[in-house]
Amino acid sequence: MELLEEQRETWGTRGGFVLAAVGSAVGLGNLWGFPYKLYDNGGGAFLIPYIVAMFCIGIPLLILEFTLGHYTQRAAPNAFHRVNKRLEFVGWWGIILGFVIITYYPTILAYCFNYMGDSLGAIFTGQPLPWAGEGIEGVQNASAYFFKDYLTGGDYIGPFRSEILYMLILAWVLMYFCIFRGVKLVGKIVWLTVPLPWIMLIVLAVRGLTLEGSMKGLTFYLDPDWIQLAKPTTWRYAFGQVFFSLSLAFGVMLTYASFLHRKSDINNNAAIIGIADFATSFIGGIAIFATLGGMAHVASQAGQPIPVNEVIKGGPGLAFVAFPYALAQLPGAAWWSLIFFFMLVTLGIDSAFSITESVLAGIVDKTGWRRSIVLPVMSAIGIGTGLLYITIDGLSFLGTVDGFVNGTWGIAFIGLIECVALGWFSRLDILRKHANERSDWRLGRWWNLLIRVLIPVVLGTLFFWSLYDNIQQYKLGEFLRNTDGTCRVNDCIGLGIMAAACILAVTMSLIRSPHDKAEKQTIQPPTQTSSGRSMAIVGFALSVLALLVFIFTGKDGQNQIMLFSSMALGIVSLLLCHVLLERFDKGDTRPSSFARIGGILAIASISLCVLTILVALSKKVADKATDILEEAPVESADHLSGTSYVILGGVFVLIVFGLGWCFWKAIGAAAKNEPEQQPEA
Ligand code: PHE
Repeated sequence: MELLEEQRETWGTRGGFVLAAVGSAVGLGNLWGFPYKLYDNGGGAFLIPYIVAMFCIGIPLLILEFTLGHYTQRAAPNAFHRVNKRLEFVGWWGIILGFVIITYYPTILAYCFNYMGDSLGAIFTGQPLPWAGEGIEGVQNASAYFFKDYLTGGDYIGPFRSEILYMLILAWVLMYFCIFRGVKLVGKIVWLTVPLPWIMLIVLAVRGLTLEGSMKGLTFYLDPDWIQLAKPTTWRYAFGQVFFSLSLAFGVMLTYASFLHRKSDINNNAAIIGIADFATSFIGGIAIFATLGGMAHVASQAGQPIPVNEVIKGGPGLAFVAFPYALAQLPGAAWWSLIFFFMLVTLGIDSAFSITESVLAGIVDKTGWRRSIVLPVMSAIGIGTGLLYITIDGLSFLGTVDGFVNGTWGIAFIGLIECVALGWFSRLDILRKHANERSDWRLGRWWNLLIRVLIPVVLGTLFFWSLYDNIQQYKLGEFLRNTDGTCRVNDCIGLGIMAAACILAVTMSLIRSPHDKAEKQTIQPPTQTSSGRSMAIVGFALSVLALLVFIFTGKDGQNQIMLFSSMALGIVSLLLCHVLLERFDKGDTRPSSFARIGGILAIASISLCVLTILVALSKKVADKATDILEEAPVESADHLSGTSYVILGGVFVLIVFGLGWCFWKAIGAAAKNEPEQQPEA
């Protein structure tokens, strides 16, 4: 196998890379995405789909992205180009959507800077925090402060809130200085931006746990509501959250790995990063819920009880209303607020610059232009597009864009395309072997099955499900209209962004830059004629049959026999095509295209069957679940149940054991290989 020994900048150390990747993964999503989704989807029970998603999809895909980046030593577009030149658009699509994230992520950092400024002001002047207040009035104060005074009040420059604008520029300037010197400097900065929020998070968690009433908060967090597991949406949220949290599908991890030292481990790093990210989310949840429990206690003591479940609203509501309110109740409130918002900044900034770096590296690799020119231009464009979110309606627009890019539409769809592209149109086993050759532990052939067959079926089901939901909810023609006939402007824009990203991606991949001439496909298909053509035709025919059976007899779920027959046909055809591709991977002969197309059709037909079964199931379960939920008392107990303790203990054991195992493997491998990786001189 050809190794691309060429001069590319590398991370100084293994630690620098791991921390940078953890820094990208651990971000605002961990603090407001995870706890809220968990709370809303069954409390402790949500951990089951989350952990399944993390280990069965998240970490294997992280390995795939790392391997592709490391093998090709290129950022996303050129990396895909190198494994199959027709796939370049997949890389572009990911990083263009990543760029969409980077247009709004710094806006949230800007909010944090402003809140930090307010906290500092309170510290120096000795005045109470501007959003402080007691009991239910305090919650209203905090909410009014954020949504009215801060977001829409104050001074304007044209249609833009001036205060936020200055901080937005500050966020971009900081990001610029973090990455302008390349990854070696990033590898050093993350030694600060990763451990610091961890320490502050632990401090906040301990502080929260020592508040009276914290246990009540934790019951909201951990007490499992098992019936929610029967609701498919619970699973969907878990998968979506894992994708976003691990920064998958936007080419970020791939780009970071392209700067890895040639001998560096891949598999173990991915596992460490996945588990560390999960640990941060989990501890973040403890900090948040314990503090909110404390807040509820204070309020009820004051005779103005507030329902914790009302206060915890996802996203900005949690970070800029509920939590500031809760912290304002503590002695030394301004200091705690300062710590909290500083923590959000350090959490978010390395996620933000990781996306910037992936876009930057994508453009630099493709065009050969200098970083020192591309980065300032990109930052200026970032600030320019960021202006959209600091107008009066900015936050709602931010929510829409985030919902589109970050929901099942954006992330899971790109993830699906990534798996199909690499599984069916490149030589997956070469990538697996590449990862194994340098890793502390090895992947078996099951990984191929996972990437090529299982993950696409799961993601395909999720994708069709979103489609189905939207059609159900809005009816196809009315999707973009309100009931009064007016246009749903935000949704139109969101959908427009997705479509434009796709068109732009294809266009970018068609443009040939002079720099591209040096770019060649690295994984060459074998030249020998196809083998197993007749078997491939059988596989293809079976998959077409499966699809036809589904469309004509199984799709409404009434005729169960036909539905299951279609599924069985799909499975047989998918496995057959997979086996044919495995032979191709061994490098002797080229498989027939029938095997590839058959495999993809089979994935589609199985996904549709699974969707039909799940929709039928969920209708049954959802009715039951709603009954049970309605009967359930809204107030929760003051102490954790036995099950919650088991969950708490179980998660800690998983994290400690998981990380312990990874480190043990790393130490074992390092001892065997002598100095495994020399820092670059
Ligand atoms: N993983 C980051 C978070 O949890 C967000 C992110 C998504 C960063 C995609 C990079 C790429 O907030």
